[in-house]
Amino acid sequence: MSLPAPRSDRTCLVTGASSGIGEAIAGLLASRGFGVTLVARTESKLRTLADELAARHGVRVEVLATDLTDAAARGALLGRVEDLGLEVNVLVNNAGVSTLGTVFRSDADQEIAMLRTDVEAVVHLCSLFTPGMVERRNGSILNVASTAAFQPIPGQAGYGASKAFVLSYGHAIRVELRPHGVTVTTLCPGPVDTGFGETAGFDPDEVDGLMPQFLWESVDAVAQAGLEGMDANRAVVIPGLANRVSARAAWLTPRRVLLPMLAKVHPGMRGA
Ligand SMILES: NC(=O)c1ccc[n+]([C@@H]2O[C@H](COP(=O)([O-])OP(=O)(O)OC[C@H]3O[C@@H](n4cnc5c(N)ncnc54)[C@H](OP(=O)(O)O)[C@@H]3O)[C@@H](O)[C@H]2O)c1
Repeated sequence: MSLPAPRSDRTCLVTGASSGIGEAIAGLLASRGFGVTLVARTESKLRTLADELAARHGVRVEVLATDLTDAAARGALLGRVEDLGLEVNVLVNNAGVSTLGTVFRSDADQEIAMLRTDVEAVVHLCSLFTPGMVERRNGSILNVASTAAFQPIPGQAGYGASKAFVLSYGHAIRVELRPHGVTVTTLCPGPVDTGFGETAGFDPDEVDGLMPQFLWESVDAVAQAGLEGMDANRAVVIPGLANRVSARAAWLTPRRVLLPMLAKVHPGMRGA
């Protein structure tokens, strides 16, 4: 099974499309002739991208600026898409943020905002958009997790747990949706140079111990791997051989051995 064919009344809704992996995925979908609907908070960036994609690929592009931490704003997305005369048949839950540091130095509001973006929004949009996909027996979902999903992360505890949630959730809803003609793929990238780490508070000079150079993949390679994974109806996609090996090793290593080692090198544990 491959991605559903483009149609003028159907759209690919991509969250976190204003930068990084989401922007690249939206670009790849547009290059294949899909109409795309771009979601993030920064409307100006979405509008610039929309103009660029429409001009370059001759596709329909809409902008729905939304703060995904806001449950009411998320809930309104279905109606806003319907008002445009569109149905979502490809849903890319990509928007995400991370905090950095120990729980005892955390800002509770930032921790909750991360869970709302990384977990609640994924669940909410899947609940909103899958009924239509099931009714039409047509749809594909790509949820963006991370190799952070394969082990708990001292120094980034909430982020690791969020991505473990997205991975587990993706496996389960894939089985629920398969008989209804809807596919679910979970994309688990290792490190990608998008500015995501800097936004989280990582100092680029400090990350080498945690994320050595051989694990890094380009944003285009990650987006491409995600689309190929949807095309091939893969359950999980981990871009890059080194990331596949290290995710498997992390999954299999006993927690009592792995976590103290991780804690030693994680920048979020400095001064802990
Ligand atoms: N970069 C990496 O190393 C890496 C590795 C593994 C997994 N990932 C995952 O990949 C996904 C994309 O990350 P990226 O690297 O492309 O980072 P990025 O360039 O920082 O992009 C994050 C996107 O999420 C959007 N976003 C953040 N908070 C939002 C909110 N409250 N409401 C709506 N949109 C929001 C941002 O747009 P606005 O700021 O305009 O809202 C932006 O478009 C995330 O889920 C991340 O966890 C990244």
